[in-house]
This record gives sequence, structure tokens and C-alpha cells, in this order.
Amino acid sequence: MANVAIMGYGTIGSGVAEVLMENKAEIARAAGEEVQLKYVLDVRDFPDSPVADKLIHDFSQIENDPDVQIVVETMGGLNPAYPFVKACLLAGKHVVTSNKALVAAHGTELLQIAREKGINFFFEASVGGGIPIIRPLYRCLAGERITEITGILNGTTNYILTKMDKEGASFEETLKDAQELGYAERNPEVDIEGYDTCRKIAILTAMVTGKEVNYEEIYTEGITKITDVDFRYAAQMGTSVKLFGSSHIDNGEVHAWVAPVMIGKKHPLYAVSDVYNGIVVKGNMLGTSMYYGSGAGKLPTASAVVADIIEAVQNKGHNVPIGWSNEKQPIADMATAAYRYFVRVEGKAAERCAEVEAAFGKCRVIEIDGLDEFAVLTGRMAEGDFRARMEKIPGIRQVIRAELED
Ligand code: HSE
Repeated sequence: MANVAIMGYGTIGSGVAEVLMENKAEIARAAGEEVQLKYVLDVRDFPDSPVADKLIHDFSQIENDPDVQIVVETMGGLNPAYPFVKACLLAGKHVVTSNKALVAAHGTELLQIAREKGINFFFEASVGGGIPIIRPLYRCLAGERITEITGILNGTTNYILTKMDKEGASFEETLKDAQELGYAERNPEVDIEGYDTCRKIAILTAMVTGKEVNYEEIYTEGITKITDVDFRYAAQMGTSVKLFGSSHIDNGEVHAWVAPVMIGKKHPLYAVSDVYNGIVVKGNMLGTSMYYGSGAGKLPTASAVVADIIEAVQNKGHNVPIGWSNEKQPIADMATAAYRYFVRVEGKAAERCAEVEAAFGKCRVIEIDGLDEFAVLTGRMAEGDFRARMEKIPGIRQVIRAELED
């Protein structure tokens, strides 16, 4: 029998307890032995919960109990998650976490401790909620040279953008919904400013390069500047706007960024709506593959945590070689990444189009009746080049990177 402790009885932690109880038989069959929840650590009391008799408030009980072989960290944040997780690994316990902030900030060190101790540090649930993506990368795609990972990696922002697109709903209204449904982070900035996506694409990039990625080097732009007017143009163009985390790997050069992107119906991520996440992975032999499912929420995320618990039970005696080394992976300057650009400009197209095309070259022009502005879709050019050309045009109201065919 394997004994598990959960640290943090919030949305995900309570979901893990629920999955362990509800799917007890399936989990035992897959793990090869019974998995028992021994402790739940939280500062709060939950007298009416199904884990009331397992609740403890003192971390040292977990750290010092040799019967606890696997510790689940679902506290979120870095403090005390980081010192607790580190202490558990140093005490020879396998750790499973859903905490992308922890993995992005301290993954290198925690993976190294796990290697040295011959135990495991697993984090499937830290990216894509319930979608299997970390394990496919280190198992199913292990023989691939990955050239691109692009994902809709944040359920909250995808939910907001979908509602703005389909229903014309306001940003604030949908954010409130997402929070009530348990998708959003406690601090909404983490989702809407793209910080959550940034940590997730940093983890995915480190997984495929095998090197440490500093998430602070990743250009990150959220969705707070996307408006209903942008979606009116998108509707007219048959496009949509999605928040992407993306990494392109070419001969060791890595471009990684987070930004809203205008895409068309042919893009594999176009149909990824609401709280769902989708991740496209391209490999030199594989071509394109896509992973899709529930990217946030209590039970989907808990399901991924439980799969890691099973992987830990199956590999109790040794370290599964996953993750990345201490070597640093430089991230290329965003100015050298190339896109097309959707640009909204003040004034009438008839009067200003020549000026705009003199700066950007031949563009597709889009007009909406009744607006005191127009939009253009430029050709593909490096971001640094685009920024320099943009300086020549006064009255630009919006710029959104675009991945669109002609
Ligand atoms: N706030 C995150 C999201 C939770 O909305 O995707 C899952 O990481």
C-alpha cells in the first residue's frame, strides 16, 4: 500500500482527495497496489469534509512520517510550497504538484534533488490541467526533435475571449463567471496578463530543449487590451483572437512568447473554445500533433495529479529521467520573430491607405460601416522591422499579431 499526503485542501487538493476515493479501484489496479490518503495539510479546518479525520496543520508530521512515500502539493504560490516540497524531496519522498509557478521558478533545483535521491518530481497538472502533455513529451514523443509548441494554455482567458467573440459579453462579466467556476487564479492578473501562460510555456520549452528556461525572458502580453471592436473586425474577416503561448525551436535558437494572436478557421487551435485548452506540438519526424481537453477546473486537474501519483507508485524505486538540466536555454529577442499584423488605424481607408501601405507594403484593408477607423492586415515581417515602420503612422489604435493565410 502506498501512503499519500496532500498539502493544500483548496480546489485542486480537494479534487485529488475526491478522485482518490471515487476511483480507488481503478487507481489500485493501475498502480499495482492500493493508494491511501493518510494526511491532508491545511491551515484551515474542514470538519464536515470527507477528509476531516486526516486533516493536520503541522508540516513536520508529513516530513517526518516514513510511511508517507508520496506528497501532493496543491497549495499554489511559492511560499510555503517551495520549502515544503524541497524538504519532502530531501526526506526521500516523491512529490507531485499542479503548481506551475513552483515548477517554473524552482523546477531545475527540485528535479536535480529528485535525480540525486533516486525519487521523482512530477508535474503533469501544472500545464494544460487535465490534458496529458508533459508525459507525452517525455514518453510518446521522446524520439522527436520538437520544432514548435503552440498552445491555448489558460482556461480563464480562453473562456473570456470565447464569450467576447460569440456573445459580445463584457470582459469583467466573463472574468467574474470564470472565477465563480473555479478556473481563475486568485489574483486575476495572473491569468489576464498572461503570466500563467508564460510559466506554462516556459515549462514546455524547458521540457523539449532539456535546458532551464527563465520565464522572465519570455515576452508576455495578456488580453486586457483586446476589445469588442477587435472582435467585430474578426467576425467580418472570419477570424478569431486567442491567447497563445508559443515556442519555436530552430537549430538551437528558441523564440518563446505569450500574446493574443488573430487566427483563421483553418488553424488547428481555432475550435478550442471556452475553458478548454489545446496544444499543438510539431516534431521533425512526427509532423503535427494536437492535445485537447479541460485545461482547468477541479476534477480534470486532479485527474492529472492522480495519474502522476500512479506514475510515482509504479516508479517508487528509481528516478524517471524527465525535465531539464541546469544549463540555461537563451530565449531569442522578440524583435527577430516574424508575424503578420492586424492593425487598426484612425481615419478613412480611402484617405490613409496609401500612407499605411507606404510604411507596411501591400496590405489587406478591412472596413466596418459606421466606424471612424479602418484596419489592415500586413504581410509577414520581423517584429523589430514592423515596430520601426509603425513609428511612421500616427493614429494606430490596435496591433494584434496574426497567423493567417492570404
Ligand atoms: N487559472 C488557470 C487557467 C488554471 O485558467 O487555466 C489552470 O492552470
